Amino acid sequence: MTVFEMSGKKNFSNKGRELIMGSVKVEQLTKEFSGVKALHDINLDIQEGEFFALLGPSGCGKTTTMRCIAGFEQPTSGEIKIGDQVVNQIPPNKRSCGMVFQSYALFPHMDVFDNVAYSLNIKQLKASHPLKRLSIYIRMFNKKLSKYPKEMEDRVRQILEYVELDKYANRLTSELSGGQQQRVALARALVMEPKVLLMDEPLSNLDQKLRHTMRTTIRRIQQDLKITTIFVTHDQEEAMSMADRVAVMKDGQVIQIGTPTELYSQPASPFIADFVGTSNILPGKVITSKANESVVQINGKQIKSTYQTDKEEVNVIIRPENITILSEGTPSSESDVNIFEGKINQSTYLGSAVRYEVLVNESTLIVDTTYFSGREILKEGTKVQLAVSSERVLLI
Ligand SMILES: Nc1ncnc2c1ncn2[C@@H]1O[C@H](COP(=O)(O)OP(=O)(O)OP(=O)(O)O)[C@@H](O)[C@H]1O
Ligand SMILES: [Mg+2]
Repeated sequence: MTVFEMSGKKNFSNKGRELIMGSVKVEQLTKEFSGVKALHDINLDIQEGEFFALLGPSGCGKTTTMRCIAGFEQPTSGEIKIGDQVVNQIPPNKRSCGMVFQSYALFPHMDVFDNVAYSLNIKQLKASHPLKRLSIYIRMFNKKLSKYPKEMEDRVRQILEYVELDKYANRLTSELSGGQQQRVALARALVMEPKVLLMDEPLSNLDQKLRHTMRTTIRRIQQDLKITTIFVTHDQEEAMSMADRVAVMKDGQVIQIGTPTELYSQPASPFIADFVGTSNILPGKVITSKANESVVQINGKQIKSTYQTDKEEVNVIIRPENITILSEGTPSSESDVNIFEGKINQSTYLGSAVRYEVLVNESTLIVDTTYFSGREILKEGTKVQLAVSSERVLLI
């Protein structure tokens, strides 16, 4: 079955071009640059058709990992497999990886159609008889003098239609908006029908609204084509909203892999709790801990958690939306709920939510509440009672 047949789109004829989807396996990948380790023992097991994000702060090794998979960097040690094939010794153009870069890397002097057709031309150039090459060169650099073969013309038109750029086929890429340029870059990668689509910060040059639209577009195309995709980003919201699974990287290492909900609800470390969403992170001393019941002391106050720990000192992690501000006179009497007295330090209206900073003893807690029209926004200095269920108190 071909990419276009899988997409379920009509009129996509791709006779003879079989799609081989690619799982990607990275084992103990290490990369050193002049003796400095940029990657240490990276292990990834990406399934066929999965949308997998590499997420982490600047310099953590995301691009280097991706470049090793694509073949632009040679690993210092470790193995990379695409499908069943070990690709360490295989050059980039034979790995069947389509790349989309942050900068798009389009040719500004060529129109949309030629940009997308470029890589097909290059492929044909390599395969063709020397006498035929001249006409391909002419087509690449002065297309009016040489026609595209019908099959190639059809294929480029199909993919342009697919990314909704068919109307712009003859427009120079320098005359397109950022989002349109991004879709040309995507079309150019997809037209080669790669086994794996690699995208390195593809949305970071776009304004926020367009980024949101493009997230949906890329996700739709990925799901439609079921193409294995590795998406690099330092934007946690982007990774969490798009990916099936996310690998969080830090200092050249993968520190947790999981679905967005796993990472959010079960972060493996305070770093992840803080990087993936917003967290209240409070260091405390464990007083007692057994199955389903721990008590931790923070700034002289005790807090209950249903999580068990064998540590003496822990980080107590509470998500802002898991703290409730109790209305006056309705204190909770449930034994599994922690109650704190606090004072509003700051309130920020965010449209559908209000974020409060509440001073509790010497700690400041971030509390998110839903806002609906008519709901009061509490003023700075207001005394409040906060409630947190012990099930929502993570210990790391
Ligand atoms: N060619 C190179 N020579 C030397 N050091 C390099 C080279 N490429 C990357 N590095 C180093 O390797 C580390 C990882 O870089 P990498 O580009 O993979 O980070 P990144 O996670 O993609 O960051 P960003 O989010 O800023 O793009 C960095 O410390 C970087 O300085
Ligand atoms: Mg990078």
